[in-house]
Amino acid sequence: MRIRKKKWAEPELSRCSYFVSDPAQYRGRWKEFFQNDNPIELEVGCGKCTFIGEKARRNPDVNYIAVDIKIDMLGVGRRNIETIFEAEGHSPGNIALVRYNVEMLHEVIGKEDGIGKLYINFCNPWPRLKHKKRRLTFPKKLLMYKRFLTPDAKIYFKTDDDGLFEDSVEYFTGSGYRIAYLTRDLHNSEITDNIVTEHEKMFSDEGVPIKYLEAVPLA
Ligand SMILES: C[S@@+](CC[C@H](N)C(=O)[O-])C[C@H]1O[C@@H](n2cnc3c(N)ncnc32)[C@H](O)[C@@H]1O
Repeated sequence: MRIRKKKWAEPELSRCSYFVSDPAQYRGRWKEFFQNDNPIELEVGCGKCTFIGEKARRNPDVNYIAVDIKIDMLGVGRRNIETIFEAEGHSPGNIALVRYNVEMLHEVIGKEDGIGKLYINFCNPWPRLKHKKRRLTFPKKLLMYKRFLTPDAKIYFKTDDDGLFEDSVEYFTGSGYRIAYLTRDLHNSEITDNIVTEHEKMFSDEGVPIKYLEAVPLA
């Protein structure tokens, strides 16, 4: 997703209590950042954070690490999170915003962090053959995620893109995951607690069915 430069993003994030400027220092110790033993969930490519903001509001006893590579995106995300939490009367204590390249996420999250749920929402489809390795569901990344997922963890993946979805089904099964649930029309499925992301709204408004799967790592 392209985003215009936001001059205010970096200064606002530097004053934000839940933006983590040096996330690698918390590798294996994210409980210390959150100051509790609550379960930790992760979103990669969080974009403008409407998903993670709403998740965190609904689930105050779960901690959320939201990762994106773009600082301007996280700047908009911080504002969106504050709007979501306005009615609560406080800033969230269960979110960590992290600017990082998912390719290197093992530098930031370790086995000891025990990620139980990982969300991949509308990652860039990268349709050209030579770019497919950049996909956040590409096998190399699925293998890396396994390094910090708990044995009973789940990955939740949704996209508008048919090619990315069908390839990803193969990526998951070929990388030691079992597909526990799959639908090619999420909004007409039995899933009732879906939180619509920015991209999801855009595509479903255009009538594009949303493809969705849940995958569990095999031992
Ligand atoms: C198409 S947007 C989707 C945003 C949001 N998840 C949604 O559903 O609306 C993809 C996001 O992934 C981020 N992204 C792409 N490659 C990444 C990488 N290697 N590491 C971290 N974030 C990445 C982009 O900056 C962008 O915000």
